[in-house]
Amino acid sequence: MTDYVYLDNAATTFPKPPEVIREMCDFYLTRGVNPGRTGFDLALEAEQTVLEARAALTRFFGGTVRDRLVFSLNVTDALNLLIGSALSPGDHFITTCLEHNSVLRPAYQQAGRGVEVDFVPFDEHGYVDPDDIAARIKSNTRLVVMNHGSNVIGTIQPVAAVGRVCRERGVLFAIDAAQTAGLVGIDMAAMNIDVVCFTGHKSLFGPTGTGGMYVAEHVDIWPCRSGGTGVKSALKTQVAEYPWRMEFGTLNTMGIAGLLAAQRWIAGRGGVAAIYEHEMAHARRLRDGLAAIEGVRLYCADMERDHLPVFVFNVDGLPAEQTGQLLDVEHDVITRTGLHCAPRVHEGIGTFEADGTVRFSPGIFTTDRDVERAINAVADIAQYARQRHARAGASVTAAT
Ligand SMILES: Cc1ncc(COP(=O)(O)O)c(C=O)c1O
Repeated sequence: MTDYVYLDNAATTFPKPPEVIREMCDFYLTRGVNPGRTGFDLALEAEQTVLEARAALTRFFGGTVRDRLVFSLNVTDALNLLIGSALSPGDHFITTCLEHNSVLRPAYQQAGRGVEVDFVPFDEHGYVDPDDIAARIKSNTRLVVMNHGSNVIGTIQPVAAVGRVCRERGVLFAIDAAQTAGLVGIDMAAMNIDVVCFTGHKSLFGPTGTGGMYVAEHVDIWPCRSGGTGVKSALKTQVAEYPWRMEFGTLNTMGIAGLLAAQRWIAGRGGVAAIYEHEMAHARRLRDGLAAIEGVRLYCADMERDHLPVFVFNVDGLPAEQTGQLLDVEHDVITRTGLHCAPRVHEGIGTFEADGTVRFSPGIFTTDRDVERAINAVADIAQYARQRHARAGASVTAAT
């Protein structure tokens, strides 16, 4: 197998802990039946796994009622469900320019239905000002959805301050915790968050196809979807009680078993804060290494402020895609290039027209040697770009 350096953990953490994979296999080998539908022993055992996962994630997000933790396919699915369910034509919806397409596209869709949508910009350091959000709240503002941590520039947003304002003004407040869940502590009660939307396969170390949301007890939204829940089958409407109100069809039980094992694994690694410190140490070294290379441009990478172990850069004279290809093909360094599904972030940092940036996102399994190899690889590519630029300059001079 190629000895590669994996720096694309913001896309999905890799590898997954063996404990997670083993638990998923065990689930399917021993109790992989459909829970919540019937009462035979195996179904109850499968149900027990799902209940434990709900309970573990409820505690993880500072929630109080296990059944308010609902599962979905991923955070995109959860955000679509939330945005599609909470808003009606004539409502006002506030979100930010930091969002991923999993919020932007549902927002555009709502705008097409007659919802008024406001996109709040971020400052030159990559942070949204809570006062800017507060100033936009109106009598018909129904929902604020905010990115907790950027998958592009890595900045962690002041969600608690925004939560306080929303709570005071009676506006529903939700966060997209795709990048932060598992890296930054989230306490819904303390942060006045009404709905946390999460995905299982990033820093929660679960498998793909898992995610969901925790909906605080005082929140009352009726879903824009309906379908089989396994309970109250004679009803013509969606079941009102949670979790069934917000879950449709058979759950990804094997994935949920993995997500539960991942919760235990995170605790065994010393918890969220310990994992964050570990990853940030690598991210800072990478950032410092790249900052010292001539011709490398970093964006909003001040990691002394609230920041994730995620940052983007470009090498002068090379499109991001080419830098990414050279990293991959010549150096076995795996990254993600382009607009990262967050075009408005690139508009904000001035890289939209250039087709984006290269992203480095180290993870828990990144080593010192990986960091060194990645820095050396970028240094090599930057040198190549400088030489190419110098040669092009020399041939222009010779021709004139
Ligand atoms: C901030 C953010 N939101 C949403 C998503 C979408 O995640 P998923 O594909 O798991 O739904 C991502 C994934 O990169 C993300 O980084």
